Amino acid sequence: MRVLVTGGAGFIGSAVTRTLLEEGHEVTVLDNLSKGFRALVPAGARFLEGDLRDEERLPGWLRGHDAAIHMAAFIEVGRSVEEPLVFAENNILNSVRLLQAMHRAGVGKIVFSSSATVYGTPRSLPIRETDPLGVQSNPYGASKVATEAFVATYNQLYGMDALILRYFNPYGPNELHEPETHAIPNFVRAVLEKRPVPLYWKGEIVRDFIYVDDLARAHTAVLGLTGLQYYNVGSETGTKIIDVVRQIFEIAGYETAVDDLGERAGDVAATYAWSRKIAEATGWQARVPLREGLARTVEWYRSRM
Ligand SMILES: NC(=O)c1ccc[n+]([C@@H]2O[C@H](COP(=O)([O-])OP(=O)(O)OC[C@H]3O[C@@H](n4cnc5c(N)ncnc54)[C@H](O)[C@@H]3O)[C@@H](O)[C@H]2O)c1
Repeated sequence: MRVLVTGGAGFIGSAVTRTLLEEGHEVTVLDNLSKGFRALVPAGARFLEGDLRDEERLPGWLRGHDAAIHMAAFIEVGRSVEEPLVFAENNILNSVRLLQAMHRAGVGKIVFSSSATVYGTPRSLPIRETDPLGVQSNPYGASKVATEAFVATYNQLYGMDALILRYFNPYGPNELHEPETHAIPNFVRAVLEKRPVPLYWKGEIVRDFIYVDDLARAHTAVLGLTGLQYYNVGSETGTKIIDVVRQIFEIAGYETAVDDLGERAGDVAATYAWSRKIAEATGWQARVPLREGLARTVEWYRSRM
């Protein structure tokens, strides 16, 4: 397939682009490099430095593609609280601009990067796609709920195939967010730099960590599907954050102190996925166990020091 990847110069988008190329697809990356890096775009992909805001050029950029994988967005939850309008503009309005341009350019399929955040505080675990969406405690989460709604609307209006992936907690090499707000890269950096590990909730909250290459394969797995579909993408394993820290200590071969940051408003106590639906539809499964993924991640950060 000919696939346009928005946000393909970012952490997850560059891994998705690599997987697409490995599986023989033709890829165009569209990224404004506001948060991404030209060097992360794999050789073999065509690169367009452009902004989703650019309504005039978007249809031309899209024309000739069979599908778009839409990953471009701002992702920092804290900043979304400070600058809700910026998040509404870049995550919601620019997604609608993309959908409208896809419609005009005859691109009939979208894979959208959503998040487990749409479930809010889960009523039960593991979280299933049929579970209700929850109230959002920040504009980033609200932007994912709103964009899901627009993506579904384009399916209803124009029959656009709409594959919505709700990621759990991605981690792995090439995570170069600035500022970095995610747990694993902050833990790994702290340990490698022999600093105290910054820890909320004494590490007692539970998350479902999904290795970035496994997550990337979920995007190519759903490319052949049609209709409006929602899929959780997780490892189906809940892990306490403190156990992640312990494993990073073991991999490093030494321990550092822990910086107890107390509680953080808005954090959900535990989430992990039911991911059988995507497995049954496509055969996709997470393959990289947490320990192996952490070892690869530590190695990648070490190689950059
Ligand atoms: N990283 C996570 O933990 C996580 C979890 C759930 C969902 N997601 C979603 O996955 C997607 C990718 O996340 P990531 O971690 O790779 O983020 P990232 O910041 O590394 O990548 C996003 C990319 O989008 C680009 N971009 C942003 N606005 C743009 C615009 N208007 N026009 C063109 N390019 C633009 C940035 O330059 C960047 O390269 C996002 O939609 C995010 O919300 C991420």
